[in-house]
Amino acid sequence: MNKNTNLCILIFFLGTHCLMMGPQRTDSYVRGIQDKDPDKGGCLIPEHPDNGVYVINNNTLTPGSYAPAFNVLMAHCKKNYTPYGTTSKGISLSAYSLLSVCIDGQWLNPLPLCARTCKSISSTETETVTCKHLGETLDNCDNPVEGTVARVECIPFHETESPNDFATCHDGVWDVPVPSCLPVCGEKRLKGLHHIIEGEIAVKSDYPWHVAIYNATNDNICGGTIISHRIVLSAAHCFTDSYGKLYSISDYIIKAGKYYRAYEDSRDEGVQESLIDTIVLPERYKATVNNYEADLAILVLTKN
Ligand SMILES: *[C@@H]1O[C@H](CO)[C@@H](O)[C@H](O)[C@H]1NC(C)=O
Ligand SMILES: *[C@@H]1O[C@H](CO)[C@@H](O)[C@H](O)[C@H]1NC(C)=O
Repeated sequence: MNKNTNLCILIFFLGTHCLMMGPQRTDSYVRGIQDKDPDKGGCLIPEHPDNGVYVINNNTLTPGSYAPAFNVLMAHCKKNYTPYGTTSKGISLSAYSLLSVCIDGQWLNPLPLCARTCKSISSTETETVTCKHLGETLDNCDNPVEGTVARVECIPFHETESPNDFATCHDGVWDVPVPSCLPVCGEKRLKGLHHIIEGEIAVKSDYPWHVAIYNATNDNICGGTIISHRIVLSAAHCFTDSYGKLYSISDYIIKAGKYYRAYEDSRDEGVQESLIDTIVLPERYKATVNNYEADLAILVLTKN
């Protein structure tokens, strides 16, 4: 019998079962359970699963007795546990695997067991929660079992506080606090844009007003723009610590007419050098203290 055939029979018997086993028939049903299996078509009731009991028509069964053919067995699990089935592929939460039918003296599929659950999660006005188990998306995040991954998606202008937007159920607890969505002030631009997009290599002397600035270890730290004979415009953060305090002016050297970045490059011709006499920063500039507002520096070069 293939699986589809099984399923049809199952649905058929479920219907029959419901008709035959209404609440008023419970007594006669209980009498249907036998110590022996006289009609040979019944199934042996096994030991109860860990953390739960086997029931037929909501009656707890007695292991070692026999259930008549065509009865549907389910597991009732204690608090913080939920029924799950097993298939050849492993744990299964499909409705089909959560019950078993007695046919021809055998339970149709492996009997359901009880699995520990993590706290259920519901979607809210600001977040949609999706739970997946073994790669399959579940209808909801009620009674999630071991290995379930809950992913949180925020509505626009909301973000999760933690960088992760998911949590995994492990040993009955979520491995991290389930992320929640908090309002933010605006919408971010796309992540990961480079500062230079489709840049091209400059041709020598394309930008004659550009100067290179080197620090005390001759590293090229910044650039600048010649405003006039002795004035260069640059950025304040090139010359200050993270509180906006100026480093020693004598640490810096300005080079105009360079094409190659290295401090000395024999291919450069006609380079002019200058030290800095004064650096003027805007009063508002406080580096990290106010998020690099007014990040400007006016460099007054030495006279020669
Ligand atoms: C099954 O039995 C339990 C306790 O005996 C009861 O709370 C529950 O409502 C019953 N469920 C059905 C479907 O009859
Ligand atoms: C010069 O700049 C380089 C690159 O930023 C840096 O590694 C180095 O420590 C700086 N030298 C001094 C003396 O600050």
